[in-house]
Amino acid sequence: MDVQPPQVLKTPLQVPRKTLMGPGPSNCSPRVMNAIGQPILGHMHPEIFKIMDDIKEGIRYVFQTANPLTLVVSTSGHGGMEAVLCNLLEPGDTALIAINGIWGQRAVSMATRYGARVVTLETEVGNNFTLAQIENAVHKHKPTLLFVTQGESSSGVYQNVEGIGDICHRYGCLLAVDTVASLGGVPLFVDRWGIDAVYTGSQKVLGAPAGLAPISFSPRAQERIFARKTPVKVLYWDMTVLGDYWDCFGRSRVYHHTIASQLLYGLREGLALVVEEGLENVIQRHQDCAQRFYQGLDKLGLQLFVEDEYKRLPTVTSITVPDWVDWRDVVAYAMKNHFVEISGGLGPTVNRVFRVGLMGYNATQDNVDLVLRVLGEALHYAQGVQRSKL
Ligand code: GLV
Repeated sequence: MDVQPPQVLKTPLQVPRKTLMGPGPSNCSPRVMNAIGQPILGHMHPEIFKIMDDIKEGIRYVFQTANPLTLVVSTSGHGGMEAVLCNLLEPGDTALIAINGIWGQRAVSMATRYGARVVTLETEVGNNFTLAQIENAVHKHKPTLLFVTQGESSSGVYQNVEGIGDICHRYGCLLAVDTVASLGGVPLFVDRWGIDAVYTGSQKVLGAPAGLAPISFSPRAQERIFARKTPVKVLYWDMTVLGDYWDCFGRSRVYHHTIASQLLYGLREGLALVVEEGLENVIQRHQDCAQRFYQGLDKLGLQLFVEDEYKRLPTVTSITVPDWVDWRDVVAYAMKNHFVEISGGLGPTVNRVFRVGLMGYNATQDNVDLVLRVLGEALHYAQGVQRSKL
């Protein structure tokens, strides 16, 4: 052998138990973990097709849609963004991207790669957009697609989406919405609100491992995909072929790729838990947890990064880093001493915020109290570190 067997792989795998209170992934419930441990099945087995059909029903429920083109892409939530933009954009199109954090920035990068002319609507990090701002931008640029993020996890900002679909459709534009961090924490009505493309991640409120991105396209968007002048640039994302694997067009199932059966079991169980609890109750639970968390943060003397309550995302809370600590000391203390994940900022919020996620199985009052206790202790420790440097 030119390369010898690595010694490191002769030692057993060791995975610590952590409480994941960052912006995702969240811990999975024991039921989901048990589901993942079920026997592996082939990607063309009839039992897998049945599980895929069950998942499609669950996704239509959580997205509140009857869209036939509703399926799962084998990718993280972020790959859902890639799949939406790859299918709906081609050279000659104009994409209007609303940017108030990292996800809008990423969408710009992707849309540019797919050959679209990209125009942006921007506001400061920590803010969202009014319908009037959106209407002005759509009127001005006449885009073929508008992209907005319902839950900007880098800043903890919630974007109201109701009303945007009507604006887009008045101007012949499609509406794409990122709900990776928001789905299940705030209401979302894909059909009622006229959303043409939507995606989320399996690893947040849905409480499954990362690796699958539920996605759905309206009949209007589906028509646009089938009427493209150029083929979808990436075969792996191409809904005209992936849609057949997921039996979205009533044709025979066709092999597309080898899907991970384990991930499907986990997502099916996560969706089953949402169905059992009821989507309205899931949303309420997330909002109740967020309220309790805000009150606790106030008692700790911490400032929420998003001042207006109606602009706050209940699933991911951003907290301004006080100038008397180094955020790294806080995050490191929580992990080292309690195995609790508290995150720093991301993209434009790096060094500015802590981010705490309360999502899915982790969205409980006990976890709110735990993270508040750990945060209080970690801040006290980090303040001591700063003082010792003076
Ligand atoms: C990922 O979704 C993040 O916000 O860190």
